[in-house]
Amino acid sequence: MIYLDNAATTYPKPDVVWETVDWVQRNIPFNAGRGGYAMAAKASQIIEDTRTAMAQFVDVPDADRVVFTPSATYAANAVILGLNWDGPKNVYLTPFAHNAVARPLHRMCVKTGSREHWIPFMPETHAWDAAATQRMFLTAPPDYVFLDHVSNVTGTVLPVEKIAAMAKSFGAVVVVDGSQSLGLLDISLRDTAIDFLLFAGHKSLYGSWGVGGWIRSGNVALKPMLAGGTGSDSLQLAMSERQPMGFEPGSHNVIAIASLGASLGWLKETGIHTIAGHERALLQQMKDGLQREGIVLYTPDAEIQQAGILSFNIHGYEPDEVGVILDGDYGIAVRTGYHCAPYIHDFLGTRETLGTVRASLSYFSTERDVDALVWAVAELEKEGAER
Ligand code: ALA
Repeated sequence: MIYLDNAATTYPKPDVVWETVDWVQRNIPFNAGRGGYAMAAKASQIIEDTRTAMAQFVDVPDADRVVFTPSATYAANAVILGLNWDGPKNVYLTPFAHNAVARPLHRMCVKTGSREHWIPFMPETHAWDAAATQRMFLTAPPDYVFLDHVSNVTGTVLPVEKIAAMAKSFGAVVVVDGSQSLGLLDISLRDTAIDFLLFAGHKSLYGSWGVGGWIRSGNVALKPMLAGGTGSDSLQLAMSERQPMGFEPGSHNVIAIASLGASLGWLKETGIHTIAGHERALLQQMKDGLQREGIVLYTPDAEIQQAGILSFNIHGYEPDEVGVILDGDYGIAVRTGYHCAPYIHDFLGTRETLGTVRASLSYFSTERDVDALVWAVAELEKEGAER
C-alpha cells in the first residue's frame, strides 16, 4: 500500500515507537498511581517522564500543565466543557475548524445561548483578515477563541500567535487545536497568548493510538468534565480540580503514553525542521505534478505556509469515487469527502463537489509515493476528460 493518509494517522511509526509499545505491553502493563509495588511505580514514572518531555517540547516550565486524554477529541471536549459558561459568550472559531472542536462548541453555544462568530479568512489566498477581525472583536468582544494551527483539509498554516495576541488584547481565552501541527511546526508556549494547546499523539507526533491531551499555559481554571478514581483522596467524593490529576480519572493508557514518550525522543533526534523540510519538498513535487487542466487544487497562496496536506478534485469524478479507484487499481490510500470539517467546504466551494480528495504526507513518505499518486491521477484525469 502507498499510504498518503498521514493527516488521519501517521504510518509507519518510527521503529522505537513500535518497540516501546511492545516492550511496555509485555513488561509494564500495570496500573499507574494505584499500587505501592515497584512495577506500578515504574508505570507512573513512564507517565511523568512523558509529561516532562511534552512540557519541554512546547517550552512550558511545569510538567503538571500537561494533561493526557485518550484522544484530541476527548481533550477538546474536556477543555470546552470545562470552561466557564455562566452566561452567553461570544465564541470565535475559524472556517478551518474540525468537528472535534466545532461540535462540542456548537452544543455549548446552543445550550447557553452563546453566539458563534467566524474569524475571517480570504477564500482566494487563505490569508487572515486582521482588520476585519479587529472590527468584529470591537463589535462583539471575544470571550473564547478557538484556532486551528493547521487545517486538516488544506494544510494551511494559520498565524495562530498573531490571532491569539489580538484576541488576548480583548481579554479572550484562546484555545489552539494543534492536532495536525505538533511535531511538525515550532510552537512555544513561553510568553504566549495561547491558553490551551490541544494535541493528538498519533498524528504528526508519531505516537500510537490512544493518547492526546492538552497543555495549559495560562492561569485559566477548568472544571473537570469527568469524575472518577484518581488514585488519591479516595474518601473524598468531590472531584479534584487539580491539574493534571483531576482531569485524568480512570486507568491511564500507559502503553500509548509510553509510545508518545518514545516518539518525542525520536522527534528531537530527527529534528522537526528536517521532517518539515522533507514534507515541504514532497508537497511541492505533488503540487507540481497535479497542476493539470482537469484538476482543481485547493491550496493557500504561495506566501502562506502549507503543511504536507493537499486537497484536490478531478473533473468528472466524485471524491469518493477517486478514493475507491486509487485504492483498488493503484494501491494508494487517501482520504476523501468532507474530512470532519464542517465549515471549510463553504469557504472552498466544495460542498457541492461532495468534498475533496486529500493526500497527506509524513517523514516516511517518499518521492516514489508521490510519483505513483501523480501518475495515477493523471490517468484518471485523461479518462475523466473522455467521459
Ligand atoms: N481528523 C483526522 C483526519 O483529518 C481523522 O483525517
